[in-house]
Amino acid sequence: MCGIIGIASNKPVSVNIINSLKKLEYRGYDSAGIATLSDGFINEKKCSGRVDELEKILFKTPSNGNIGIGHVRWATHGTPSTINAHPHSTEEVSVVHNGIIENSDELKKKLENRGLAFKSQTDTEVITLLITEALKESNPLNAVFTTIQKLKGSFALGIIFKNFSNIIIGARRGSPLAVGYSEQENFLGSDSYALKSMTNKISYLDDGELCVLTKDRVDFYDTEQKKINKKIHLVSDEDNTSNKGSYKNFMSKEIFEQPIAAKKCISEYIDSLKKDINIYNFPIDPKLINKIILVGCGTAYHSCLVAKYWFEELTNVEVEIDIASEFRYRKIKFNKKNLYIFVSQSGETADTAAALDICKKNNVKTCSIVNVVESTIARNADWVLPIHVGPEIGVASTKAFLGQLIVLYILSLKISSLRNNISSDFYSLSIENLKKIPEKLKKCLETETNIQLMAKEFLKAKGSMFLGRGSSFPIALEGALKLKELSYLHAEGYPAGEMKHGPLALIEEGLPVIVIAPKDKYFEKTLSNMQEVIARGGKIFFITDNKKSLISENIRSGIRVPFLGDLLSPIMLTIPLQLLAYHVALLKGCDIDKPRNLAKSVTVE
Ligand code: M6R
Repeated sequence: MCGIIGIASNKPVSVNIINSLKKLEYRGYDSAGIATLSDGFINEKKCSGRVDELEKILFKTPSNGNIGIGHVRWATHGTPSTINAHPHSTEEVSVVHNGIIENSDELKKKLENRGLAFKSQTDTEVITLLITEALKESNPLNAVFTTIQKLKGSFALGIIFKNFSNIIIGARRGSPLAVGYSEQENFLGSDSYALKSMTNKISYLDDGELCVLTKDRVDFYDTEQKKINKKIHLVSDEDNTSNKGSYKNFMSKEIFEQPIAAKKCISEYIDSLKKDINIYNFPIDPKLINKIILVGCGTAYHSCLVAKYWFEELTNVEVEIDIASEFRYRKIKFNKKNLYIFVSQSGETADTAAALDICKKNNVKTCSIVNVVESTIARNADWVLPIHVGPEIGVASTKAFLGQLIVLYILSLKISSLRNNISSDFYSLSIENLKKIPEKLKKCLETETNIQLMAKEFLKAKGSMFLGRGSSFPIALEGALKLKELSYLHAEGYPAGEMKHGPLALIEEGLPVIVIAPKDKYFEKTLSNMQEVIARGGKIFFITDNKKSLISENIRSGIRVPFLGDLLSPIMLTIPLQLLAYHVALLKGCDIDKPRNLAKSVTVE
């Protein structure tokens, strides 16, 4: 997954390209590049590393030109290096690409047999060479059409041409692409977010479509090369992302703003006067829903796992959960009475978007739970439930997980009430309880000092385990994911009761084991599983909402979060785990907001 930007303007574009690339770094940050057209030449500059490095290069040797394209890369084919960074250019053409060309090897061989040489190891360079070849016989639009017909896989492209110095061509299949409009300037971008500081007027290309931008017009074409009109969306111009205030990094800001984020999210869904939940327009009458299928990736998948416990506890609807990259290739038996829910912070995750598309093709009803309401997944679903937590910049998801949990819990409550699965008293009480979340989260954040001490004990560890039962099992998975993602320390999440079936073999003297044990129906059972770990030398870090004393000679350290009832405990228990991952990573000197090898928005398979 990569980020692309293109600007056709009446003034020099390189500064705005760099600024947009900085915003797009959440899609990839292992290399960056820019190409502008100036003095009749394509002027390409690129480097490995961050956009800051590219900016330094441009500072020393500025790139002029009123038309240009830029790229941030997350390597798929070829190492992250200057040569593999985009754009990929010949004398005639320069291309930036997001996606994967699945038949690139085959195309490359054919081009090499015709005597053409490749500079990089990327799949993208075949596109550059194919367009260059096609241009010998046709105009730019036809050359791009002919080329994309030869490509298998996914792409969003931005292309400039030496001899057609006023145009940028954009094309998409599978990977998202947006067009922005302004006075005497038009833009191409991976998403509206990259364009927000320049315009709030956006159109989105659909699969197979192309666009031709000049500074004062944009033309769109469908798969048949017919001119088409596209709807212009007015997107919110709110852009409060570049400011981390007094925080060291975005992740700590995002962890600590969770009480506010929760308040905002809850207030969007709770009608305090009517003591009701504002969720309407279900795509299927909730009383008639046969089954709910929840799909997501990574942290979003973990929120689906927690939600399964809630739906099962509160409603009589059957629930299934799936990882999007598995769902999209399984032989699913679709049912029109099922509701398919897709959870994604970014709304751009390729696997989740593809899983949603499959549902659409099978004419079943879909719901998306997203943070970015202008995203592909939000636009493609029948029904959208935003999480309203504000932009999340840190690659490790924190406040978005919280928002996903809150919305999923609210949805399960609403469905259970509409299906008469719970009493009206329980419904009202649960709504009152929800309102307590922000204050209780503040208390959870007060555990930070103890967590900082705890984090030191992970520095020499070879690995770690996170254990929980019931809805604490997905929280264990999420805790382990956060720790490995941020601190690069191996971490396993396991249902505590499953240890004796194999993973217990991993326990050795001093291995840190985080036991997540809220005061729920599993509490005593989790304690027994913990004893099995203690007996084998595991070093226990105990996280609970139980008011009873935590002191025990066998527990290395204990963290207590506020009790808010069985159902809401996953929300409370998550906070110390986020803080733990954060502090271990900080002590290890890791890049908190941009962990190695990752990207915020995973727009490739
Ligand atoms: O944008 P999405 O919620 O669809 O992203 C899904 C995962 O890529 C994401 O949650 C990832 O696991 C996080 N980096 C974890 O912190």
